Amino acid sequence: MKLMTALLAASAFCGATIANATDLEVTHWWTSGGESAAVKEFAKAFDATGNHWVDGAIAGSGDTARPIMVSRITGGDPMGATQFNHGRQAEELVQAGLMRNLDDVAKAEHWADVINPKSLLEGCTYQGHIYCVPVNIHAWQWLWLSNAAFAKANLPVPANWEEFVADGPALRKAGIQPLALGQQSWQVTGLFNNLILALGGKDLYLKIFQDKDAKVAAGPDMAKIFKAADDARQLAQGSNVQDWNQATNMVITAKAAAQSMGDWAQGEFQVAKQVAGKDYTCLPGLGEPNPYITTGGDSIYFPKLSDPAKSAAQEVLAKVMLSPATQVAFNLKKGSMPVRGDVDLSTANDCMKKGLAILKAGNVIKSTDELISPDTTTQINDLMSQFFNDMSITPDDAQKKFAAIIGTAN
Ligand code: GAL
Repeated sequence: MKLMTALLAASAFCGATIANATDLEVTHWWTSGGESAAVKEFAKAFDATGNHWVDGAIAGSGDTARPIMVSRITGGDPMGATQFNHGRQAEELVQAGLMRNLDDVAKAEHWADVINPKSLLEGCTYQGHIYCVPVNIHAWQWLWLSNAAFAKANLPVPANWEEFVADGPALRKAGIQPLALGQQSWQVTGLFNNLILALGGKDLYLKIFQDKDAKVAAGPDMAKIFKAADDARQLAQGSNVQDWNQATNMVITAKAAAQSMGDWAQGEFQVAKQVAGKDYTCLPGLGEPNPYITTGGDSIYFPKLSDPAKSAAQEVLAKVMLSPATQVAFNLKKGSMPVRGDVDLSTANDCMKKGLAILKAGNVIKSTDELISPDTTTQINDLMSQFFNDMSITPDDAQKKFAAIIGTAN
């Protein structure tokens, strides 16, 4: 009898679990080694709730993935949840009433108190309502350097962008590609924006992207940035790769001396078992004297769904992604910083510790994804891609075109 009761109880329990288990497809563009390792942490944590993470990875890059995500949502085939960058990429979907309002979950889970910095939640808020959960803080402004490449060229590892540029000829002589840069236009723009903030400073960056000041965009401070971008395109010549992680791999294997890329690159060094300080060097803000970083990153949005079980699972996923344990596990693999300040990061590596110190000091500003529309970003991407690929375009010509884009930016 006892056995029967136990079996019945067990089967009733299993039944309940199965009935509550909901498949939720999550689309994202996290497909590199470090990114997939990080995403598995989300899947593991969600599956532990009895639900099932259906992985909707889209290969290529954010630029390839986003149009697919948007067309599925607008075309009536929404996924359970989807990645976008913090900021304005989902603005039109929210305006069209296609995305789920998360006010109740946010209130119950005290997001306003735990999310740090607060600007991340602002990026999820539209007309007073919350539409996404920020899952990480990714800073774009890093220079990743191969210690072995500099050793091969008999050079000390540089401490900033200027020193790196000066090393260019010696690196070439030693047979090393100075700068690794993937051909996709978002990577070129990323590098260019990094130069604006690192060399031009916070005020110049905000004049351009927040105030959209065309006069400043056409002025002498930006002329210096275009000169630096001219250096960069020459240093990048010969770096014949497409994907950002192929470029990172050139640094990991010491074929290239450096890459300027967001801190997701950290995940690749980790997968390759390289040690910061020993095998490679990471310079936040492209190095001394005064590193500032942007607090961009990723948010997860939840399209409105008609199935109540899936809607309930969306809430579970939103909660799980912000739980302290998941935040630590995911971000340590991703190379990003957690969106809550109350988690234990004692196991963070040296690069992440540098980033955390900058965050703590408050030397952070909003990313371009938060400040300008996706349309303006596309125009800048096209310009940068032309400028970096066609050496006949002078820095002066490119600057004029850039100022025109900023003049009509929104
Ligand atoms: C960014 C995203 C990062 C990283 C990177 C490269 O847009 O915020 O999480 O995945 O793309 O794939």
